[in-house]
Amino acid sequence: MHSRPTWLVVGGAGYIGSHVVRGLRAAGHAAVVLDDLSTGSRGRLPADVEFVHASLLDPRLDAVLSALADRRSIDGVVHLAAKKSVPESVAVPLYYYEQNVGGSVALLRAATAAGIGRVLYSSSAAVYGETSAEPVTEDDPTLPTSPYGETKLAGEWVVRRHAEATGLRWAALRYFNVAGSASERLADRGATNLVPLVMRAAEAGEPLSVFGDDWPTPDGTCLRDYVHVEDLADAHVAAAEALLDHARPSPGVLNVGRNEPTSVLDVIAAAERVLDAPVPYRIAPRRRGDPACVVADASRIAKVLDWRASRDVLDMLRR
Ligand SMILES: NC(=O)c1ccc[n+]([C@@H]2O[C@H](COP(=O)([O-])OP(=O)(O)OC[C@H]3O[C@@H](n4cnc5c(N)ncnc54)[C@H](O)[C@@H]3O)[C@@H](O)[C@H]2O)c1
Repeated sequence: MHSRPTWLVVGGAGYIGSHVVRGLRAAGHAAVVLDDLSTGSRGRLPADVEFVHASLLDPRLDAVLSALADRRSIDGVVHLAAKKSVPESVAVPLYYYEQNVGGSVALLRAATAAGIGRVLYSSSAAVYGETSAEPVTEDDPTLPTSPYGETKLAGEWVVRRHAEATGLRWAALRYFNVAGSASERLADRGATNLVPLVMRAAEAGEPLSVFGDDWPTPDGTCLRDYVHVEDLADAHVAAAEALLDHARPSPGVLNVGRNEPTSVLDVIAAAERVLDAPVPYRIAPRRRGDPACVVADASRIAKVLDWRASRDVLDMLRR
């Protein structure tokens, strides 16, 4: 192992990727970022991070990665680049398969050609879909309900099969609902996640839509498991270090959550506490494909990586 391992963080200019870059550097690793800036922004990254502006679908990707690996040693790839809107994936599934699955295949091919032997892949709780188990373990059935979830699952398959064939060391982290930020500059600007939507509703006074209050849950609204993006970045550091340690097996698939069911109304109540102001909302009809409850069994990641979340929903809302 090198004294200062270097990771190619693909999608590192995005919300989660920029926190992963921050976490890796704080732990003494180095990061080079490759991103097409389709949803990310260069301003999320410190000025001294080497940045490669390219898409995974660029036909010159092999040449770009090989040139990079010739110039500086790259110990592994952290692959976060994807399109992530569920409704958009329903509207344009081919685009999602092309970007998320096609992009992953192209990245693995180019990384392998460049001699890079470790991959840490961003997966999602969306791979579980309508699961009846609660909380879900990594061995539960994967029945994604959207093209987005399918592409994240197909990405896991591609990584695992490629690893079996080539000896690539790999991990796939299934993130549950990610929220919070390390700073204002790194905050989630996405228009689809609950925490930014709650904050927007409070600021604008426009009521937030709560999709259904007749689910089979304690308060009738959907239950999710929220994880702070800085805890998630720490999980990446732990997985990266496991990948570097060849005495340990590849971590494989791991849930990253807190095993704490939190309803939509819980998030609204917590936001009202943090803001000391009301969050207006209205009950809207259920959305097709929304599971009632998605909560992680997080025992495997605790065992394999010795990782546990240390921040709660109030911490996520404060940031
Ligand atoms: N945000 C969540 O709650 C959540 C939950 C589970 C999984 N994930 C996964 O985490 C990863 C990061 O998500 P995020 O929330 O930071 O989203 P994001 O949109 O902020 O980040 C994605 C980054 O990838 C880049 N990118 C997209 N397509 C690319 C391509 N073809 N080539 C090069 N760069 C490309 C974008 O410019 C952006 O910087 C994604 O893989 C997503 O599926 C996110």
